[in-house]
Amino acid sequence: MASVLVASNRGPVSYVPREDGSGALDARRGGGGLVSGLSAALAGQPEALWVCAALSDGDREAVRTGVSEPGVRMLPVDPVVYDGAYNGIANSVLWFLHHHLYDIPVAPVFDAEFRRMWEAYRGYNRAFAEALAAEAAEGAEVLVQDYHLALVPGQLRELRPDLRIAHFTHTPWASHEYLRMLPEDIREELLWGMLGADELGFHTWAWASAFISGAHIDSAGGTAAGSSPSGDPWRGVHHRKAGGPVRNTRVRVYPLGVDGDELRALAHRPEVDDRLAALRAEVGDRKTIVRVDRTELSKNVVRGLLAYRELLRERPEWRGRVVHLASAYPSRQDLAVYRDYTAAVARLAEEINTELGTEDWQPVLLSVKDDFARSLAAYRMADVALINPVRDGMNLVAKEIPVVSEAGCALVLSTGAGAYEELREDALTVNPYDVSETARALHEALTTGPSERADRTKRLAAKATALPPRRWFLDQLEALREPR
Ligand code: G6P
Repeated sequence: MASVLVASNRGPVSYVPREDGSGALDARRGGGGLVSGLSAALAGQPEALWVCAALSDGDREAVRTGVSEPGVRMLPVDPVVYDGAYNGIANSVLWFLHHHLYDIPVAPVFDAEFRRMWEAYRGYNRAFAEALAAEAAEGAEVLVQDYHLALVPGQLRELRPDLRIAHFTHTPWASHEYLRMLPEDIREELLWGMLGADELGFHTWAWASAFISGAHIDSAGGTAAGSSPSGDPWRGVHHRKAGGPVRNTRVRVYPLGVDGDELRALAHRPEVDDRLAALRAEVGDRKTIVRVDRTELSKNVVRGLLAYRELLRERPEWRGRVVHLASAYPSRQDLAVYRDYTAAVARLAEEINTELGTEDWQPVLLSVKDDFARSLAAYRMADVALINPVRDGMNLVAKEIPVVSEAGCALVLSTGAGAYEELREDALTVNPYDVSETARALHEALTTGPSERADRTKRLAAKATALPPRRWFLDQLEALREPR
């Protein structure tokens, strides 16, 4: 029985069959901000149990043959249920709502097919709730992660009222108008699922407030505010299900940061030095604009490339003197809209290179491989970091690059990133839809003098490391243990 449990869709590793046909499985590190933050946090919690889903055939094979990592339990959810829950609801509905990504004239469509997928989402959440209920010791703390598992707190509370339950959202939370697009019964089920938690965590007050303003779902509902013994503020939602007692769910903000020492150590491993040497040879003494993202609709990679093209068109003095190192590695390729987006990114990079490149200068070096060592090498070389998401829960890359960049980098940062709340003062901030403004900010970033860049980078790095993953996690655990 575990006394601290964490639940998330993606776990710390995924298994891939070895290519030699031997049937053996290789473990790979999972991608994305949630996994990197939680892996670092849990490294100091050997007694914790991490419950995650088996995502692929390789993962299901690992479960079947008893291959696992210590402290990790993978749930072998039926592949059809998993597809409906992950692709159908989590990534096509909840992700789109929270990031405001819908192309409104054609989507969303809530029809019979949607109802079938919601059923799958409910079942998939239930599988987690049941596994957690079975593994948790009396009075244990359970920390549920992200929009994939929004119904788990409510379901788990019904199974195990003795547990202390927290939920953390790594994405933004949909604005009230967006949330109201959901059919009413589904919206209520979603909110009641979340309100099953004692504690709800978000990366910023913008997302926490969006949740609170959307959560007035019962006549007994109301809001409250207060602070914990340590002085941390919380806001809360009172709620009562028909006939039940009034309960209070506290809402707090934990802006996840990076562990500076650990990241710098990672960035100076020999394989990163090798990648750095190779990149330096390609780039020469030109300046660099660096971005590293999953090829994700919300990351706004296409407008980032358009801004870079406008910079080169409008200010020809930069031609031949700058290289855009863009890592945009594939993500969620089961969804057609992501495959199309990935293709659009590659096409535009190619167009820019054809239009503006010369024999000895390629304006965009696009890398579509998820190669962490190469990303770190690019961070070290960054003169400018381009972070222009339309809407983003936090965006850890905005925090990682200033910590690692060697000569200090100028940060071009979208107002839509969660990191904007903390980093805005020392960044060049841009409206993510305004390509011309982004192009001007790139120019300004490239021309920022070395001492101003160094000063700003120092302050950015200090803010980026203010709440490293371990502290982020322990703060939530302490809040969950507070007497109520
Ligand atoms: C975001 C989400 C995470 C997710 C990650 C990668 O950071 O908040 O929950 O794991 O993206 O996405 P994926 O669909 O590949 O797990």
